[in-house]
Amino acid sequence: MKAHFERIIHTEAAVRAAVRRLARRLSRDYAGKTPVVVGILKGGAYFLVPLTQAMAVPLEIEFVRASSYGNKQTSSGRVRRDRDPGFPVKGRHVLLVDDILDTGRTLSVFHRAFERLGAASVRSAVLFDKPAARQVPYEADYPGLPVPDVWLTGCGLDSDGLYRNCPFVGVLKDADVVKPAAEDQGQPRA
Ligand code: IMP
Ligand code: MG
Repeated sequence: MKAHFERIIHTEAAVRAAVRRLARRLSRDYAGKTPVVVGILKGGAYFLVPLTQAMAVPLEIEFVRASSYGNKQTSSGRVRRDRDPGFPVKGRHVLLVDDILDTGRTLSVFHRAFERLGAASVRSAVLFDKPAARQVPYEADYPGLPVPDVWLTGCGLDSDGLYRNCPFVGVLKDADVVKPAAEDQGQPRA
């Protein structure tokens, strides 16, 4: 699928190395605990699986869904999420996992929600960190690779639902970006 990209920001090898590095740190930090690792769908799923496979602690996985509605590449500023995560949180060590930390809204909303539900601790891991895009103050406890403030695709990140399965991350060629129709404001980004 490389032919669809004008620029690769992080290669498959670089992404794999970053996942291994984060997993080593997490294995140390969660030694003796049984965390519940919570992936934020859909993009977080691509990161959660290799990350948890490389973690040397017994753990549970769960998923929650979020979408910020807007004009495809711009966040509306509102994060929609399920009110009830659907699994017990009280007293658990929660590790939130998402593909990218962009404006910071998604993770800050979930972070506060899990704290309110009585988690023993809440931390977050992201594969990519776009610090220049931050609109609310939020930093991940386990940031992976830094990325520039451009629209990225691959490693869980989609362009209108496509290309999440690319094992590298980059910028699509203009011809491959699905252009939103002017009236199309209602598609969720997840
Ligand atoms: P937030 O802006 O930090 O709340 O990130 C919200 C969500 O937007 C992330 O979980 C991603 O699913 C998505 N997102 C943010 N930046 C990008 C990007 O560059 N490409 C694709 N999806 C993105
Ligand atoms: Mg997402």
